[in-house]
Amino acid sequence: MHRKTPAPLSVWRPLNLDRFLLGAPHYPEHVDESWWRRDAERMATAGVNTVRMGEFAWHIFEPHEGKFCFDLFDRAIDVLGEAGIGTIMCTPTATPPRWLTANYPEVLRVDVNGRSAGHGSRQHADTTSPVFRAHSRRITRAMASHYKDNPRVIGWQTDNELNTTVSESFAPSTRLEFQKYLQKTYGTIDALNFAWGGNFWATAYDDFSQIELPRPLMPSYPSPGHVQDYHRFLAAATAAFQHDQVEVLRATNPDWFIFHNLGQLADIDFRGQFGQDLDFIAFDIYPMLYDEMRRTGGHAATQALHLDICRAYSGNFIVPEQAAGLGSQPGFSTMTPEPGEMRRMAMTSVARGADGIMFFRWRPAHFGAEIYWMGVIDHDDVPRRRYDEASRFFHEITAIKDQILGTVVRMDLGIAGADFDNQEAHKTYPIGLPSPLEDATLLHRHCYRNGIACGFIHPEDDLSRLKALYVPHWVMWKDQWNDAVETFVRNGGTLILSAMSGTRDENNHIIREQAPGNALATLSGVRVTEFGRVVPEGGNGLFPLFRQAAMGAYVPPSPLPSSSAERKYHFALGNRQFEAAHLYELLEVAPDTEVLGVWSNRFCAGQPAITSRSLGQGRVVYIGTYLTPELAETIVDVVLAKAGVTPLLPELPAGVEVSIREAKDRQLMFILNTRESPVTIPNVPPGIDLLTSRPVAGAVELEAYGCIVVLLSL
Ligand code: GAL
Repeated sequence: MHRKTPAPLSVWRPLNLDRFLLGAPHYPEHVDESWWRRDAERMATAGVNTVRMGEFAWHIFEPHEGKFCFDLFDRAIDVLGEAGIGTIMCTPTATPPRWLTANYPEVLRVDVNGRSAGHGSRQHADTTSPVFRAHSRRITRAMASHYKDNPRVIGWQTDNELNTTVSESFAPSTRLEFQKYLQKTYGTIDALNFAWGGNFWATAYDDFSQIELPRPLMPSYPSPGHVQDYHRFLAAATAAFQHDQVEVLRATNPDWFIFHNLGQLADIDFRGQFGQDLDFIAFDIYPMLYDEMRRTGGHAATQALHLDICRAYSGNFIVPEQAAGLGSQPGFSTMTPEPGEMRRMAMTSVARGADGIMFFRWRPAHFGAEIYWMGVIDHDDVPRRRYDEASRFFHEITAIKDQILGTVVRMDLGIAGADFDNQEAHKTYPIGLPSPLEDATLLHRHCYRNGIACGFIHPEDDLSRLKALYVPHWVMWKDQWNDAVETFVRNGGTLILSAMSGTRDENNHIIREQAPGNALATLSGVRVTEFGRVVPEGGNGLFPLFRQAAMGAYVPPSPLPSSSAERKYHFALGNRQFEAAHLYELLEVAPDTEVLGVWSNRFCAGQPAITSRSLGQGRVVYIGTYLTPELAETIVDVVLAKAGVTPLLPELPAGVEVSIREAKDRQLMFILNTRESPVTIPNVPPGIDLLTSRPVAGAVELEAYGCIVVLLSL
C-alpha cells in the first residue's frame, strides 16, 4: 500500500491511499485464541484486507505502570497478516486502565455539578488534563516503537470517537488549563473583559486566575463570549491531545497513515489543527440510531446528511464502523438492517465519499456493555446473512475500486458548513431558533429526495465547482470570506444568504452596523430594518430556559402549555403564499435589487422579505426568514433551477437515492434503492453497471435495497 502526503483540506480531496480499505474492527482480546485462525480465514474469504484493533486495550498493552506487554496483539496481528490482512492499530486512550485512574484520580472528568467520573465505562479521563496527556504520550510512544518495523501494522486511528460520550469537564485542572488558554489568546485581562463584555452583569475580572468555567444557569446565563471561548478551548485541547499522539506516530514511522473516527462531532474543529494533523478523517455510520428521533426523515436520509456533513471537513473519508446489524447498549437499541440493506447502507457511504468501509464489528461481544451489538458473524460463531452480505460487498468493491479511488462527489448546491465558530455561536445564544444545521437539513432533505447533487462546503474551500451556495444563518460571517463569495457570484454562482447572517462579530458582540453588516449589505443589496420572532406552533418562549435548567436541578413540567401561537406571519413568493417560521426580517432594498418575496399580512404587509441582486454573471439572493419544507422546495424551484441546479435523474421514484462520483476522465452514477420493495428507475442515462458489467439505459429495475453503479458513457 502506498500513502501520499495529504493535500490541503478540501471537500474535493480524494483519499491519499491506493488501497480501498475493507474490513472490520476486531477485538481478539474478546475471542478465544483457538478461534483466531478461523476468523482470519473467513475474513480473507470474504474479501477483508484490513482490521482495526486495540482502541480499548490499554490495560493489556500496559498491565502495570511502565510494564508493557504486546504479546496478545502481536500474535493476533501475525495470524491475520498470514491471511493477507493488514492491521490498523489504535491509540487506546478512550479507556485508561484502572491502575491509572486509581493512582492519578485527578485525570477523571468532573461534570457540571461537580461529580467526578467513576472508573468502569469509557471516556472517563479528561483530555485537557496535563497528567492524562503525559500518560497518553507515554503509551503512544511505547506502542509506536513496538510496532515501528512491523509491516503488518499499516496505519493508526487516534483514540476512539473523541468527545462522543462527553466533551466537557469542570475539573479543577480543566479550569486551570482554560485560564492558561485565555491568557495565551488575549494577553491582557482588559482584552478579555472587552471580548466578553465585562461591564454587563459585573463579569469583569482583575486577573485570569479569577475566571471560572461557564456553567449554564448557575444561576443565570453566562456571557456568550465566555461560553464560546470555553468551547474553543475544548476544541483546542482536543486537537492538542491528538497532536501529541500524531507527533509521536509521525516521528516513528512516516509511512503510517493516521486518522480519527468521528462520532458525535462535539467540540472538535476539524478544519483546524485537528483535521490538518491527519491523513484523512473517518466517520462511524450508525444511521439507525436516529430512527427513533422524530423528524429525521428516515435513516437513509439521515445517513446521506451525515456523510455530506462529514465530507465538508476534508473530502473523502473512510468509515471504520459501518452498522452491520442490530445495535444496542443497555439503554437503547436500534432497528436491524433487513436483508440487502447492510450492503445498501455501505454502498451509500461509498456513493457519498467513503474510500474505505469496515463493518462494525467482526463478531459481537459476549460480555460488557454492548452484548447485543451484532457483528458480521453471530455469537454462536456461525456466518449467516450478514457475513454473506459483507462478503458480497467486499468483493464487489474490490472489483471496481480502481474506478472509485481518485473520484470525488459532485455537488451543484453547496450548503455552508464545517465552520466551528458559527456552529458554536448559535449555541451560545439560540433563543429557540433552529441551528444553522437544523435549517440546512430542510434544504438537504429536499435535494436528497429529488436527486439534486447537494452537500456541505466551507467558504474557504474551492467554490468554483458549485452552481449555488446557501449560507444558513451564519451570525459570525467573517470578512475574510467576502472576496471568495463575491468572485463566486461574479463568475456565475448564486449565493443565498439568510436571516441573521453576519449580525455578530467574533466576540459574539452584535455588530454596530445595520444588519447584515456593510459588506454583506453591499453584496446583497439589502439592509434589515427590523426583525422579530415568529412563535412556532405549540411554542412557549420559556421552554428552552426550562430545558436548559434540567441540566442543573430543575425538571420542567411536561407538556408545557402553548402561548400565542395564533400570531402568524405570511409572505408571497412567486404565486404562492407561505407561512413564515421562526423569524421575520423587514428589508430595505437597494435600487439595483429585485424583490422576489413580500410580507403579506399584519403590520409587515408590503415590505420585502426575499430579494435578488444580479452581480457579474451571478446573483445574490437574501431570504429574510428561516426555511420551512415548503420554502425549501420553492427556493429550489424558483431560485436554484435558474442557477442550473437540477435533479441528476428526472422523475426519481420515492426512496431512491442518486449521486455522482467523478474525476476528469469518468463519472460514476450511484443509484440505490433504500426501500424494501423493487422499483423501476425511468431515465437512467446510458452506461455500464460496474457491479454486473451490463449496459444500462432508460428504465432500470432495482430489487429491494438494490444498487447499481453506472459508469456513464461520456
Ligand atoms: C461507536 C464506538 C464503538 C462502539 C460502537 C457501537 O460509537 O466507536 O466503540 O461502541 O459505537 O456502540
